[in-house]
Amino acid sequence: MTAVANSSGPQAGALHIPAPVGLLAELTHRCPLQCPYCSNPLALERVANELPADVWVDVLKQAADLGVLQLHVSGGEPTVRRDLEEIVAGAAKAGLYTNLITAAVLLTRDRLEKLAQAGVDHVQISFQDTELTNADRIAHYERGHAKKLEAAGWVRALGLPLTVNAPIHRQNIESVPAFIELAERLGAQRLEVAHVQYYGWALKNRQALMPTRAQVLRSAEIVAKARERLKGILVIDFVVPDYYARRPKPCMGGWGRGIINVTPAGKVLPCHAAESLPGLVFENVRDRSLRDIWLSSDAFQKFRHTEWMQEPCRSCEFKEVDWGGCRCQAFAFVGDMRATDPACSKSSLHAAFADTAHGEAAGAPGPFVFRSLRASA
Ligand code: FES
Repeated sequence: MTAVANSSGPQAGALHIPAPVGLLAELTHRCPLQCPYCSNPLALERVANELPADVWVDVLKQAADLGVLQLHVSGGEPTVRRDLEEIVAGAAKAGLYTNLITAAVLLTRDRLEKLAQAGVDHVQISFQDTELTNADRIAHYERGHAKKLEAAGWVRALGLPLTVNAPIHRQNIESVPAFIELAERLGAQRLEVAHVQYYGWALKNRQALMPTRAQVLRSAEIVAKARERLKGILVIDFVVPDYYARRPKPCMGGWGRGIINVTPAGKVLPCHAAESLPGLVFENVRDRSLRDIWLSSDAFQKFRHTEWMQEPCRSCEFKEVDWGGCRCQAFAFVGDMRATDPACSKSSLHAAFADTAHGEAAGAPGPFVFRSLRASA
């Protein structure tokens, strides 16, 4: 792993700080969909506070200089920005590989062509289900599924690689085999079968979204078989829900180790949900260089490496494998952001964590709380 030279930061010479590999650029929080598991923060950023294109272009140049290779252009829905082509062109000029993460319902073929010409290298489209009526119900957007299918066809026709993103929960989990068929039929290179993670807005809908453990295990078996059958044709990523895990995931690959998240207003976060943690102050690209923020801002230093850990993490043999799991989940469930992620079987709250999932999955799902601006307010 490449390290970033750090001659001026307060921790100079003390600990190796790796260069970030990826940058997630949340260009806006505006989105036409109203998914009940929306990963945007609870407090949405106003349009008036969004960074203009020229500032984004400068940030992306700084990112490339810092060692970032991949740019994930996201939101909200990034295509609501009319200046998206300018931002993408800036990324291409800086030498970044650009992945456009989109709901695709606002795309036209002409717009996609312009974005490809500007420098988009890869497109990721989220699908809410494979069955039209249920997909549109979950997204709370009429005729969205049909538009996504059409846009996926344009992506392949333009020769761009495609990832199908499938957020999985109890109201579409029986469609996992159909998601695999859909990805094959669309000619996708990658399929993400990603069980919903429960922080932020998804936490409000946990009971409506939580599958049973048996359903999760069955989905894992289906994916394992499909991986075997589709070797060399389709890569399938599988993200299990933490509530049924025994070991925590190395969230973001470890805090401050590989990923930078920049919000629509320019705040630089170690993860997309970090604003849910109390007391952390996030610096802004308008005030300080990305390099300085990455190397020495308090928020990035807070949970970097392993010195911050308490027991049982501190003496755990996996502490440099999972890096303590997810800080946002530890805070959301335990109320202590330094606590062991309750997804870990060594956490004293692990059994309560799993019991919560079992209890909610066994009950009636209840109605969705859709993510609308009104509901957010
Ligand atoms: Fe913030 Fe996992 S989402 S550390």
